[in-house]
Amino acid sequence: MIKKPIVAANWKMYKTPQEGVSFVSEICNLLLDKEKPTIIFCPSFTSLFYMNENLSDSGIELGSQNVYFEPEGAFTGETSVGMLKACGVRYVIIGHSERRHIFNENNTSLNKKLHVVLDNGLVPIFCIGETFDDRNARYTKMVLKEQLTKGLDGVKGQLIDRMVIAYEPVWAIGTGVNAEPKQVEDTHLQINGLLAELYATELVKQIPILYGGSVKPENAKELIEVEGVDGFLIGGASLKLELFSKIIEIVKNNYKG
Ligand code: 13P
Repeated sequence: MIKKPIVAANWKMYKTPQEGVSFVSEICNLLLDKEKPTIIFCPSFTSLFYMNENLSDSGIELGSQNVYFEPEGAFTGETSVGMLKACGVRYVIIGHSERRHIFNENNTSLNKKLHVVLDNGLVPIFCIGETFDDRNARYTKMVLKEQLTKGLDGVKGQLIDRMVIAYEPVWAIGTGVNAEPKQVEDTHLQINGLLAELYATELVKQIPILYGGSVKPENAKELIEVEGVDGFLIGGASLKLELFSKIIEIVKNNYKG
């Protein structure tokens, strides 16, 4: 089965609701009736409701950048999966390196989030990746293994095909320096191997694995041609209409599946 490639925009803490709405209406006009990859916008919580109203019928998907694992309660500042669903969210980014490193999220709480997202019928975009020091010390595989085994603990095989993995080397995020295609190929292969230690090969084959870290129009072709790369999770370049639409076009024309 050929996978459909994914181009996901992680807007981080950028764009007001008005800016988000006008961005997606321009993208919708550009891509109207065109065959396209799965496109997912992950704006901040404040934009979700408004963007959902403007995305209906466009075939473009909405994702959030985080979720809390409790269904409701006295958890000031948090957002539940039910609240996200009510805003039309289908995808949830879990374990982004900024959440891990700035907000001290750990494998245990990320595992709870993965469960709640899957149990409620949404699709996690589960982020993993090593730091610069990890890579230099040749700890990459060990770090990815720990993130995957602890993050996916207790997640049953029948749910795993509704899951997206994003490999984002921390040293490539927001730095302008992407991982080399060969590094990406080797690491995606390792991730596939690690997943195959946990789940049946047939299931693992269905899991899209995205690359993230300084993706831009200049490197998108060589990266999407890498075996095992099923799309991108994009930060900076997803904030600019011209750059983002170019990357979508490149993915559409060059993904081999
Ligand atoms: P950049 O594309 O800005 O490097 O960010 C990548 C990222 O963190 C996506 O989640």
